[in-house]
Amino acid sequence: MRNYKLKYPIAFIILLGLFILSSCKKDTAPPAPIPTPGPTAYTWEDPLFFQQMIIPEDNPFTVEGIDLGRKLFYDNRLSADNTQACASCHLQENAFGDPNQFSTGIDGTEGNRQGMTLINLGYQFNYFWDARSETLEEQIIQPVINPIEMHTTWAEVMVKIKADQSYMEVFELIYATSDIDSIHVAKVIAQFLRTVVSSESKYDKWRKGEYEFTPSEFNGFQIFQKEGGDPELGQGGEWGGDCFHCHPLAGMQFSDYQLHNNGLDSVFTDLGRGEVTGDPDDYGRFKTPSLRNVEVSGPYMHDGRFTTLEEVVEHYNSGGNPSATIDPFMKYTTGGLQLSDQSKADLIAFLKTLTDITFLTDTAFSDPN
Ligand code: HEC
Ligand code: HEC
Repeated sequence: MRNYKLKYPIAFIILLGLFILSSCKKDTAPPAPIPTPGPTAYTWEDPLFFQQMIIPEDNPFTVEGIDLGRKLFYDNRLSADNTQACASCHLQENAFGDPNQFSTGIDGTEGNRQGMTLINLGYQFNYFWDARSETLEEQIIQPVINPIEMHTTWAEVMVKIKADQSYMEVFELIYATSDIDSIHVAKVIAQFLRTVVSSESKYDKWRKGEYEFTPSEFNGFQIFQKEGGDPELGQGGEWGGDCFHCHPLAGMQFSDYQLHNNGLDSVFTDLGRGEVTGDPDDYGRFKTPSLRNVEVSGPYMHDGRFTTLEEVVEHYNSGGNPSATIDPFMKYTTGGLQLSDQSKADLIAFLKTLTDITFLTDTAFSDPN
């Protein structure tokens, strides 16, 4: 009972304290800030078993940026005569690659390189077949001004973009300025492209325990990750395909993104990395492409010389063509891989488990117009 009595004074003191406090606040507290409009932060989550995406500090994801980047990726106004968008050469059903051997620019000029797939770009650290761009933002500046691609100037493009009020409203919301230039455009397109992620192939599902390989797919998987070459003929062979050395499973991208000469030619018509560095040791070296969605990304190699996966596998099976820079993992010195017809078929069955229908049909990546 004594306790009961005590409560009153305590409660009174607390109430008095609160009253004093709140009245003090009234006098000194600044007026509540008017909320300033700004972009909505977007939190990226890496798919299971993936490494951490490389997101530049000066280009964080925003909901509005990704959305605007997607619109710009599909916008013809990025070319001189308003006929070509990034998506004209990078088609979603082809894993954002070009189904033609060489891409054709707005003037009808053909390039000499095959349009690359755009898959999981946020996990890469160099861009183009010769790795001449180190960031995605830097890469995106290029096609617009390339004379055999969109063949315009950024000044011309910016006039068109600035005349579009619906674009400018979003740019101003994100960057709090109306002084928008090519860097801002490249940034939002890069944001969009970083979300263009493939992680739902049969292979991914198998890794997660949600899919069972057929015996052929499983055998192909084993060939993919076994050392190559006939043990009878020398050099540690186990009758595998030796694909994993340059197209590693770790990191889930099926590419080391390094530059190798995989033995396509003995005489080079395109020097690849050598054209960038001028170093003879780099002649004929090209960036290893990811093998994700390879079933739909042909034609294959930097010059699109192979139209089928059968031709590609036959190339590796032959061991490739010798040259001063051929990669030591190519088995030309030991008579090629010597895979049986069944093994070749199984290897291709495995490569097809990297097809991701969800990615190829995801409406979040498709033309918003
Ligand atoms: C005329 C066809 C064409 C157009 C238009 C085009 N590209 Fe490309 N893209 C290519 C070709 C060809 C390559 C490979 C060029 C090379 O390596 O020299 C490529 C390479 C790339 C790469 C490098 C991918 C990698 O894995 O290294 C990215 C990223 C890319 N393009 C994005 C874009 C964006 C963004 C646009 C629009 C601003 C665009 N492209 C417009 C044909 C095109
Ligand atoms: C020495 C490293 C190396 C090895 C080993 C290797 N690759 Fe490649 N792969 C590359 C490089 C580099 C390219 C691109 C070459 C070019 O275009 O000039 C490539 C391209 C490809 C392509 C074409 C992809 C595209 O989008 O154009 C396929 C498919 C492929 N490799 C599959 C395989 C298979 C299957 C094996 C095993 C039998 C294998 N690779 C072994 C380095 C290698």
